[in-house]
Amino acid sequence: MGPLAQPPDSSGSTPHQDRSPTARLEMTGISVAFGGVKALTDVSLTVEPGQVHGLIGPNGAGKTTMFNVACGLVRATEGRIVWRGQELRRLRPAQLAGLGIARTLQGVGLFPGLTVLENVMVGAHRHARAGFFSALFAVPTSDADEARLRERAVAALGELDAEGYAARYPGSLPYPVQKRVALARALVSEPELLLLDEPASGLSEDEMRELGDLIGHLSGRMSVLLVEHHMDLVMRVCDHITVLDSGKQIAAGTPQQVQNDPAVTEAYLGDAVDDTTDVSELAGTDGGTHRG
Ligand SMILES: Nc1ncnc2c1ncn2[C@@H]1O[C@H](COP(=O)(O)OP(=O)(O)OP(=O)(O)O)[C@@H](O)[C@H]1O
Ligand SMILES: [Mg+2]
Repeated sequence: MGPLAQPPDSSGSTPHQDRSPTARLEMTGISVAFGGVKALTDVSLTVEPGQVHGLIGPNGAGKTTMFNVACGLVRATEGRIVWRGQELRRLRPAQLAGLGIARTLQGVGLFPGLTVLENVMVGAHRHARAGFFSALFAVPTSDADEARLRERAVAALGELDAEGYAARYPGSLPYPVQKRVALARALVSEPELLLLDEPASGLSEDEMRELGDLIGHLSGRMSVLLVEHHMDLVMRVCDHITVLDSGKQIAAGTPQQVQNDPAVTEAYLGDAVDDTTDVSELAGTDGGTHRG
């Protein structure tokens, strides 16, 4: 998979000519309560520029909630988010593209009535205003813009080896291909920060290895926050890992530090382990000893 073609300088849509990532995401003291349920209590993490930051923990630990705070889908009860040195208040999902942030959600989330190419083109709007319809109709403003947009969408699909599906509708494609298209849609805006919630779910071992290669390759030009259950992938691609359990941070560090942290082993052993999680990979323990 080759690097995504740079948009032409004249387009004015990509202010970052230097692709070395420089922006840092800092989430500090994040707490979230849903009614009486404390989903997160005082959780902090920093995604350093160009790093892949893993967010792991047993089922119900609060990973998706933290992810949703980062992309504006959930409002934190307490805490602050600083991105590019500025506090993000009242962050809304529609603002993400303009901030240089892109995400893929746990499901696939493609528009069924648009072709693969159109789906990816919709993702290209750094300045999308109010979501889908304005993204589709407000821009591009000229044939030249549209041609450039199309070129970038084709390049993004090419990076995911999915350009052959450009004219197809998502519903007619196998799930792993749909996931690649969703990733192409996130990449086409050339984000500085990519948020991924369980990108490996539903993938085969080979596809997961390719995904790992891709994430490693992307981190040269963007930062990545990765929520994932597949420990082999997490341990392979992450520079830094934050571990949650019952809404609290129980460990953080390099993959090796986290792997050797007794609190982490304890959290996974004490929980009904998701069948996609291999505890023996996580902590070097005998996976056969876990309950659940
Ligand atoms: N919208 C919501 N309303 C009420 N409770 C919620 C809501 N979303 C999450 N929760 C609760 O918050 C806690 C954390 O959930 P979250 O989905 O963030 O966990 P997770 O780590 O992503 O789990 P999984 O590995 O199963 O995806 C859980 O107790 C969950 O039941
Ligand atoms: Mg989740």
